[in-house]
Amino acid sequence: MNVNTMNVDYSTKIPNNVNLSEDRQVLKALEGWHPGYMNWWSDMGPEGFQQSLVYLRTAYSVDPRGWAKFDYVRMPEYRWGILLAPQEENRVIPFGENYGEPAWQEVPGEHRAMLRRLIVIQGDTEPASVEQQRHLGKTAPSLYDLRNLFQVNVEEGRHLWAMVYLLQKYFGRDGREEADELLRRRSGDADSPRMLGAFNEATPDWLSFFMFTYFTDRDGKMQLHSLAQSGFDPLSRTCRFMLTEEAHHMFVGETGISRIVQRTCEAMRAAGISDPTDIARVRALGVIDLPTIQKKLNLHYTLSLDLFGSEVSTNAANAFNAGIKGRYHETQIKDDHRLQNDTYPVLKLVNGEIKRVDEPALTALNMRLRDDYSQDCVKGMLRWNKIISTAGYDFKLTLPNVAFHRAIGEFKDIHATPDGVLIDDATWNKRKSDWLPSTEDGDFISSLMTPVTEIGGYAPWISPPKVGIDNKPGDFEYVKIET
Ligand SMILES: [Fe+2]
Ligand SMILES: [Fe+2]
Repeated sequence: MNVNTMNVDYSTKIPNNVNLSEDRQVLKALEGWHPGYMNWWSDMGPEGFQQSLVYLRTAYSVDPRGWAKFDYVRMPEYRWGILLAPQEENRVIPFGENYGEPAWQEVPGEHRAMLRRLIVIQGDTEPASVEQQRHLGKTAPSLYDLRNLFQVNVEEGRHLWAMVYLLQKYFGRDGREEADELLRRRSGDADSPRMLGAFNEATPDWLSFFMFTYFTDRDGKMQLHSLAQSGFDPLSRTCRFMLTEEAHHMFVGETGISRIVQRTCEAMRAAGISDPTDIARVRALGVIDLPTIQKKLNLHYTLSLDLFGSEVSTNAANAFNAGIKGRYHETQIKDDHRLQNDTYPVLKLVNGEIKRVDEPALTALNMRLRDDYSQDCVKGMLRWNKIISTAGYDFKLTLPNVAFHRAIGEFKDIHATPDGVLIDDATWNKRKSDWLPSTEDGDFISSLMTPVTEIGGYAPWISPPKVGIDNKPGDFEYVKIET
C-alpha cells in the first residue's frame, strides 16, 4: 500500500488522493464543473442554515483506522473531495467471464456503455436524496439531528463528486455531458426527474428521513458493495471508500427509529396504555404510535425493493458476465464465480399464486442482491423490536411480503396484503390506508414536527441519543445557528 495515496491533497481546490494536480485535463474538467455544483448546492441543498457552523466530519485520509476529522464548517465551505480507497496490489477480476484476470485500470472498450450507465445511475441517486431532504432542517427535533441530516447531505454531495470524477476521467466528452446532466435533473420534477422511483418521492417529515436512511441508503450500500467488486478498479476503489461514509447514514436511520420507538413506549407506559394499537390514545400523548411507524416502514421498504429492478434481468447477467458488477461479498462466496450452470430461487407469480421458481443464477442476480438486502434490513429491526418487548408490549415491527405494494418486477400488476395474500383492486382500495400512511397519518406526523433548536433539547416524540457524535456530551452545540 502506497502511503501517499492514503492522505489527501488539500492544496488544490478539490481535495483528492488521486494526484489531480498532475492530471491537468481532469482537474480542468472538475474545476469547470465546480461552479455548477455550487449553484446546485445553493438552489437544491439544505434550505436555510447555509451560514451556520455545523460540527461535521470531513474525510482527510482513506486509512480505515482514522479517516475523518470533526470541526465546525459552513456547509458551502465543506471540502468535497475525490477519495479512492488504496489500490490493492495485483487485484484480479473476482467474477464473470474474465474471472482471475488482472483488474482493469482503464475502461474496457466493449463494456464502456454499460459501465457508464451504472455510474450515472449510482451518481444520480446522490444529489437526489439531498434534494428530497432539503426542507427537513426547518423541523429538526434537535441540534444533534440537524447536524446528522447535514452530515448525510454533504456526504451525498461528495458521492456525487466521486461519480463525476469517474465520468470525467474515464469517459471523455460523453462523461462530461453526463456530469452536467447530473446537476440538471431534479427529484420529483415532472420534466426531468431523477432516474429511479424512490428518489422522486417526497421526504415530508423526520420519520420519513429516518426510514429513508435506514431502507433506501441501505439499497445504496448493497449497490456500492456490488460495484466495489467491479473489475474496473477505479470504480471498485471509489465505492469502497464511499461505503465507509455510508455506514453513518444507516446508523442515523437505525438509531433514529430506535429513539422514536423508545419514546413512544415510554410515553405509553407512563400513561398506563396497554394496547399499543389504541392509536387515538397514543397520539394524544404527542408521540408516534407503533402502527403508524409500521405503515411508514411498509412504504419505504417497498419503494426501496423496487430499486433492485426486475427479479429476472438479462442486464444484471450481462454486467456480471462482463466483470462489471458482482454479488454482495463476492470474494467471500465459495463457488466458481461464473454461475454458468447454477440456479437461484426466485419468487414469481405462477397461475395467480406466489411461488418459488428456480431460475438461472445469472439472470436472478437482482433477486439475490435483494434477498441479501432484506436480510440486512432485518438486523436493525431486531433492535427496534427489542425495545418494544423490553417495555412490555406485544407488538412487532415486520417487513412486509415482497409482493406487497410493488411498482417494479413480478408483482407490479397485482395487489397483495403485507402478509402476501393476493387481493383484488376493490379490496386493495378499501384497505390500503391500513397498510400505508394515509393523508391523515401524514398530517398527524407533520403536527409533531416543530423544531427544537435549544442546546441539548429534544422534541417530545423522540428520545435523546445514547452517545453524542464524536463522543460529545449531551449539551454540545452541534449546529451554531446563524440566520
Ligand atoms: Fe451516497
Ligand atoms: Fe447515503
